[in-house]
Amino acid sequence: MIEAKEADQQVPEDNVSAIINGSSGSVSTYPWMVFLADAFEEQYCGASLISETWVLTAAHCFVNGDDQIDLEEGAESIIVLNSDTASPLASDAEIGQVGQIVIHPSYNPDPATSDNLDDFDIALVELTAAVSFQPVQLLSGSAPALAGGTETLIMGWGTTAVGEDNQGIDPSDDLLVANQQIVSVADCENIYGDGITENMICAGAVEEGGTTDTCQGDSGGPMLVSSGSNYVQVGIVSFGGTETGPACGDPEAPGVYASVSALADFIAEHVSDAQFVTLDDTSGGDDSGDVPVLSISVDGSLVNIQWTAVAGATGYTLYYAPYPDQEPISALDMGPQLSISGELPSGSAFYVAIEAYDGNGSLPGLSNVEVLMVQ
Ligand code: ARG
Repeated sequence: MIEAKEADQQVPEDNVSAIINGSSGSVSTYPWMVFLADAFEEQYCGASLISETWVLTAAHCFVNGDDQIDLEEGAESIIVLNSDTASPLASDAEIGQVGQIVIHPSYNPDPATSDNLDDFDIALVELTAAVSFQPVQLLSGSAPALAGGTETLIMGWGTTAVGEDNQGIDPSDDLLVANQQIVSVADCENIYGDGITENMICAGAVEEGGTTDTCQGDSGGPMLVSSGSNYVQVGIVSFGGTETGPACGDPEAPGVYASVSALADFIAEHVSDAQFVTLDDTSGGDDSGDVPVLSISVDGSLVNIQWTAVAGATGYTLYYAPYPDQEPISALDMGPQLSISGELPSGSAFYVAIEAYDGNGSLPGLSNVEVLMVQ
């Protein structure tokens, strides 16, 4: 039986609500977001589509209860594409059959022989037939390291709370999405010591106060950075939690992700048409870094607007105007928060943009302008 391996084992102080404290997202916004389900169609890991025929996930999704890599269950698994829901599957969900599974040759989950059970936690799954959903771009091996504080997006159908037995409980039927910020290697090593290798990156909810995290069942899914109008996958959900804190959503212990850029060679070796980018490739030129990047997801009447943090900003102003008239333009002070969500009546249609400000007025530059529509 395939088990999501947990590196984390203690009773939480409070129930933390994965994804911990997420809001709903949709595969219409994240068309490459897919999941692995067992022969009974039970979701057990997240994954991302990286070409017409290949899916990226975590190696530990294929480890059995005896800490051995076991591809037999994996071979009977299905890849579910185009489904916002894990259960029941969306009516237009597509089921992909598993061809070969390639685990990183240096991954070793066997405590008897392994130096580091979580290192090289990356696997590729080949579909037996090509699919037509948009694959996600991947952070190139030549990209500079992501700075601490960089805003990221995490998503999955994993557990949303941690129960008395230390395990994640209450998996989500719906895709949930949340923000985390990159935690520097030094800060992450302070928590996990030399368990952290160069093949990992860490992220937590350092800026927002609210505890967001990935949890059991989210493993293998992507951590992304938005870049212009694209998302770039930078991590793969791997592990988190310490022996003295909750398994997930511990404000003291960041989530740990396999680093896509550090492991890019392994991906490129097997998936010749995977798309690697550096973040500058997609952000389109001038003085980037000063301007926030805005993205919108709409799920039914629930709208989630989020933006990337700008260095030096003390807050953000949200501008909106009716679509298609463009006038009048209204402004809302968001304070330091990096997202806002809520319900809007059906038929709502707006242009939306965000601008950062600091103590001296406004920092230069408006974000990308996006159109928000509720059907
Ligand atoms: N190992 C888990 C899984 O199999 C993911 C845990 C992530 N934990 C965290 N605290 N971020 O689904």
